[in-house]
Amino acid sequence: MSRINVDFLVIGSGVAGLTYALKAANYGTVAIVTKKEDVESNTNYAQGGIASVFGEDDSFDLHIRDTLEAGRGICKEDAVRTMVKEGPRCINDLVKFGAEFTLSPDSAKFDLGKEGAHSRKRIVHAKDYTGNEVERILTSAAHNHKNIKIFENHVSIDLLTEHQVSSKSSSDGITCYGAYVYDEQNGKVKIFSAKITLLSTGGAGQVYLHTTNPRIASGDGLAMAYRARAKLANLEFMQFHPTTLFHPDAAAFLISEAVRGAGAILLNKDGKRFMEDYDPKLELAPRDVVARAIDAEMKKRGDSCVYLDLSPIGRDYIPLNFPQIYNKCLEYKLDISQELVPVVPAAHYMCGGVYTNLYGQTSIENLFACGEVAYTGVHGANRLASNSLLEALVFADRAASAAKDSIKNISSPPEDIEQWDDSGTFNMDEWILIAHDRDEIRKIMWDYVGIVRSDFRLIRAKRRIDMIRREVREFYRKTAITEELLELRNISIVAQLIIESALLRKESRGLHYTTDYPEQNDQNFLGETVLPERLID
Ligand code: SIN
Repeated sequence: MSRINVDFLVIGSGVAGLTYALKAANYGTVAIVTKKEDVESNTNYAQGGIASVFGEDDSFDLHIRDTLEAGRGICKEDAVRTMVKEGPRCINDLVKFGAEFTLSPDSAKFDLGKEGAHSRKRIVHAKDYTGNEVERILTSAAHNHKNIKIFENHVSIDLLTEHQVSSKSSSDGITCYGAYVYDEQNGKVKIFSAKITLLSTGGAGQVYLHTTNPRIASGDGLAMAYRARAKLANLEFMQFHPTTLFHPDAAAFLISEAVRGAGAILLNKDGKRFMEDYDPKLELAPRDVVARAIDAEMKKRGDSCVYLDLSPIGRDYIPLNFPQIYNKCLEYKLDISQELVPVVPAAHYMCGGVYTNLYGQTSIENLFACGEVAYTGVHGANRLASNSLLEALVFADRAASAAKDSIKNISSPPEDIEQWDDSGTFNMDEWILIAHDRDEIRKIMWDYVGIVRSDFRLIRAKRRIDMIRREVREFYRKTAITEELLELRNISIVAQLIIESALLRKESRGLHYTTDYPEQNDQNFLGETVLPERLID
């Protein structure tokens, strides 16, 4: 069995993983393992931008206030303050790496966009392909760095802790030594052993039937961390993006909030601007409010979508400033500068995750987490638009700075890490089963654990998901590994963890809305939802 020894193992190649890798590479060797080609990640799909204080009429205090308000009272204020204050420096680092953000007409400053629940214009962006631009420059820098090696088509299976080391017992405390990783090209499992491991695996949108996330966003980091007994928090707060293209062939293509920021309005089938009935901030209300309003409007009227009207923006502005969205919609024979755009909400961003401190350190020794997989506490019950890339940049930078001091004092992982044992497994050729289970989980989650929840729906979902998860677990034990199987195993676990978290929160707050407890309950205030260890086996 091949074993790769490095100082830093980075699992995932979005903005958090690449930022960390580039900075940690100053202190040691880095292996980045990534499931697909290197540019495929949630980062790549982020159209809107990076929220940060650059405007003359803006201030750190205003950005902090907007973030806390969107988070409905359960953001961690120290984490928010850190993110906001360190944001401009991290964005300037990206510019030094070569990122080309859209500038004002005189090229003297950033052209700042506006998005929902921001009281000022503060979205640094590269037209409507910001994630792509950030990923492009970071990937190229990582490829050119002598201390970084990127392993594409490598799927992480499980974290390595003392449970996989013959000479240690679990009473020694939990320490991470790297991960077992499946190499798709030769079908073999490798040991990646590392002094420090970073989880930067992104989100879990694939747990839901409709999602803006790519196929690889199957909650792998959450599931791996849970199996390794790391602390996880607030998984009930899945953010649904209000506006994705409703088209049979479009698979929830995102229509950026920046489009509403530029002036687009939402209409129902009768042409009524329905946000007037829901929130004084209209289309720029926080995301949870807009998504719930669309959901309510569709359910009330029995409609399958609502419409975005871009005519207030001006026809000429659209192709120039939203070229990606404009051209993509043209592929579906829809000219968004002339026609109404049919839209529906879809699962978009996990606000909870693997519990970390302000340096990305998890509850497991030498295991760090950054980006969407992590729970730093900045998003609370609802993430403010375009705070996600910002959080990833700032906390990856901080985790790398912590590594500078700690890496010298960490000994190399033990030699006697157990070899991967796949005896007794065989190729079952049951693709239909894997595909069917994945679809079934995603549909149950969409129907019962979506924008509007109730105890009845959650308990029903729990019964069904628990049964599928147990079947998947049995199947996994007997079957030769494939990427699809690993993803199914993770999706089944994350789905159940989301339900368990949702059942614990007996109130409605931000992204978690339940008809049984429709009000925010500040008396019996449940700050964080932390699941008991080994709740599910
Ligand atoms: C968007 O452009 O609407 C998505 C960006 C984000 O999720 O913050």
